[in-house]
Amino acid sequence: MKSYLIAPSILSADLARLGEDVENVLKAGADVIHFDVMDNHYVPNLTFGPAVCKALRDYGITAPIDVHLMVKPVDRLIPDFAKAGADYITFHPEASEHIDRSLQLIRNSGCKAGLVFNPATSLSYLDYVMDKIDVILLMSVNPGFGGQSFIPATMQKLQEARRRIDESGFDIRLEVDGGVKINNIAEIAAAGADMFVAGSAIFDQPDYRKVINEMRQELTK
Ligand code: DX5
Ligand code: ZN
Repeated sequence: MKSYLIAPSILSADLARLGEDVENVLKAGADVIHFDVMDNHYVPNLTFGPAVCKALRDYGITAPIDVHLMVKPVDRLIPDFAKAGADYITFHPEASEHIDRSLQLIRNSGCKAGLVFNPATSLSYLDYVMDKIDVILLMSVNPGFGGQSFIPATMQKLQEARRRIDESGFDIRLEVDGGVKINNIAEIAAAGADMFVAGSAIFDQPDYRKVINEMRQELTK
């Protein structure tokens, strides 16, 4: 069976008790913690840096941490997040002066590397780097905020990204981020995604386990 990963975004977590909330969502069945890094420059919002990632590790969180960099410049933060305990580090190609170098820096730091595509960013950035990436992240909203609606054109883009992955023969995850809910996750998976970020859909509900179970149920359809 295909392995699907559910990655709650801590952007929607209870930030005043982050460690406990992350622990609870993992106990409820989450696979990966999605960690949104915003700099009030590349995107119009400001969130967490490497110190918060390290704090989660020190608190005892051992699950994979998926660091989504929405920052410009990119490279300076890569070694810091690797040291702070990141497993995946992804960045937006428009925000990097040297995409190949940033990807190499991530892998050389011992992390899985990925490119993130905004809704209107072309997948052509993938053309010469398929051998250097472990994950492709398609944004299904414009980056910066949780709680936005899934942009339908993402479905076709997911199919194109899936085709590129399958043709490449490399082992690459296809992640989707923004507006993922119980009622659209099956369709998103059918379009080719195998890693699902969900912020508000999980953290805005009182029973995380119920939401995650229902998402998994949708994924078996
Ligand atoms: C948006 C972030 C997302 C966000 C998703 O820039 O990258 O990870 O938290 O939130 P929801 O699932 O609420 O759309
Ligand atoms: Zn994200």
